[in-house]
Amino acid sequence: MSTTSIGQPIQRTESTSKVTGAARYAAEQHNKTAPAYCCYVPATIPTGRVVDVQTEDSVTLLWHSNAEKLGELEDTELAVLQSDRVSYRGQIVAAVIADSFETARDAAARVRVSYADEAKPDNELSAEHPSLFAPESVNAGFPTDVTVGDPGSALESAVHAVDRWYSTPPMHNSPMEPHATTAQWSDGVLTVWDSTQAPSGVQDDLATLFGVDPSNVRVVAENVGGGFGAKGSTRPNAVLAVMAARATGRTVKLALPRQALFDLVGYRTPTLSHVQLGADADGTLTALAHDTFQQTSQIFEFCEQTAESSRHIYAAPNRRTTHRLAVLDVPTPRWMRAPGEAPGMFAVETAIDELSYTIGIDPIELRIRNEPDVDPASGNLFSSRSVVECLREGAERFGWADRDPRPGHRREGRKLIGSGVATASYPVLISPSSASARIEADGSITVSVAASDIGTGARTVLRQIAADALAVSADRVELKLGDSALPTAPGAGGSSGTSSWGWAVTKACRQLVDKVGGIDAAIGPAEVTAETSEEIDGQKDLARMAFGAQFAEVEVDVDTGEVRVRRMLGVFGIGRVMNPRLARSQLIGGMTFGLGMALMGAGNTDLEFGGFSNHDLAEYHVPVCADVTDVEAMWVEEEDDELSPMGGKGIGEIGTVGSPAAIGNAVYHATGVRVRDLPITLDKVL
Ligand code: MOS
Repeated sequence: MSTTSIGQPIQRTESTSKVTGAARYAAEQHNKTAPAYCCYVPATIPTGRVVDVQTEDSVTLLWHSNAEKLGELEDTELAVLQSDRVSYRGQIVAAVIADSFETARDAAARVRVSYADEAKPDNELSAEHPSLFAPESVNAGFPTDVTVGDPGSALESAVHAVDRWYSTPPMHNSPMEPHATTAQWSDGVLTVWDSTQAPSGVQDDLATLFGVDPSNVRVVAENVGGGFGAKGSTRPNAVLAVMAARATGRTVKLALPRQALFDLVGYRTPTLSHVQLGADADGTLTALAHDTFQQTSQIFEFCEQTAESSRHIYAAPNRRTTHRLAVLDVPTPRWMRAPGEAPGMFAVETAIDELSYTIGIDPIELRIRNEPDVDPASGNLFSSRSVVECLREGAERFGWADRDPRPGHRREGRKLIGSGVATASYPVLISPSSASARIEADGSITVSVAASDIGTGARTVLRQIAADALAVSADRVELKLGDSALPTAPGAGGSSGTSSWGWAVTKACRQLVDKVGGIDAAIGPAEVTAETSEEIDGQKDLARMAFGAQFAEVEVDVDTGEVRVRRMLGVFGIGRVMNPRLARSQLIGGMTFGLGMALMGAGNTDLEFGGFSNHDLAEYHVPVCADVTDVEAMWVEEEDDELSPMGGKGIGEIGTVGSPAAIGNAVYHATGVRVRDLPITLDKVL
């Protein structure tokens, strides 16, 4: 079968509609009837109970005493207005619905909430917190603890050792389009326009919560202005909008203000990592231990898989990885781009750098020396693993050979210059999906899947995948997504979208070709819907992961401590690249996300009043164009037939992994100051 579309750098299908403003987002839907507007009232106490809620405005008021009783879901964050309990400051305790947004916002601000049992928040994560426990498993179903051999004895007898603590702060996803929902009930049928990564998932959740059959719920997410995990599952805004629509009999719009994202949609948990490395005289690792501590809320258990990457990245005969979770008076943490891998590899890739200086060996050479032959976690072979190629190719392109390894030795005027390296890994995750392919009598082709394009270019890449499976050109394929009425699909998350949806699209398209005896021979309408559980279950036992090497060069002002990243280079082993234009965009976006994690992003937990004290983009800092001068991403050739019919690995998250450690290691090389607690702000460098 010819493959001419995959690999082409074609532009996003929807680029013109987005830049001209024609693309509609969740809060922008036109409706036949004038909508009502919903604004919520956040809790102003960190913990306690709501005893009364009053308004003097002529608006509809919802709170736990009059809100409808919802069905139960595992995600208890979605039990909106179901109890009097306040579990964190910022939680939804009431909502008002009015004819205009301005009226609703004004009335919401004047709602009077009476509380009882208010107490000081217990919201400071520490490795000694009395609530710490070992969850049954951690995010994505990974095991909580894994021990191999005897890491304790191996660490004691090691010739060289590193024993350090590392931390990362709470971090917030704040996509360009804040979460928004338009909800409409009509004859028992619910239609929701929601800014979500997972239309099918939101459909199921809303059906359960509101006691209707999923076939009577339609979730539309035609355009989504970013997600980063914050829209990976149903969020409270969707629940409240649907509740408000049912309570008023109106079409209700609910657009969260930016500040609400810092309370309601999840965030990256703060992490504490205790990393212990033991090595022989020549740098061969004898032991690797990574013990992690994180937080969750009083209402829902979420444990980030922060030690997971340490199970795969280096060979070491004695190993231990653990996860412990503290239950605090905080909002529930959730997914944020590269959950687990991003904070976990900051810790381990900084520790490896520390070990390289302890031994006096080049950090690239140390990594190559500890490259495993098989996956250390499972003992399985890797389907492909290009860590060494990525390190070597990156070293060559970055000019690593010219580097003077001594810290604090390269100075240009008031700037100290340094460079650093780190590796990156991210699992290849694929979920079963369905998709349909249809050809009309006139030969036009439509391929449909309830996927979500959150700005990654999924719609475009799926067109390319469909075109190759049909052996037609991409411009002949219309690709429909962003609607739960289309064939059921998993969400855009875990860097798994293209592989999961693309597999189902490929299967449906190939079956359509078979059914009609070739697209050119087709004469009548024909349609095929396919599903991929069987293929995915039937995959060989192999370790499937994407890998990369991240390089950074920084300059540090000797007087102010200001760190600027002069250049970054990421080299990745990501299988076959579907669309180099969009892949590069994903990778440099991920690397920029990592730059923000290294130097800026930090939620400031308010220990007095609860919640986060910085909750907008004026006070929660992210990289702007002036911070991102030279970020480049590339990939090595990697042919891997054990992934999916398309042969690609996920690319949405791997760019974020390793880049914070590469920058931190560069700061150490520049200054001789080792910062183990992100972000690397100037006060920590001076
Ligand atoms: Mo991503 S954090 O898996 O949506």
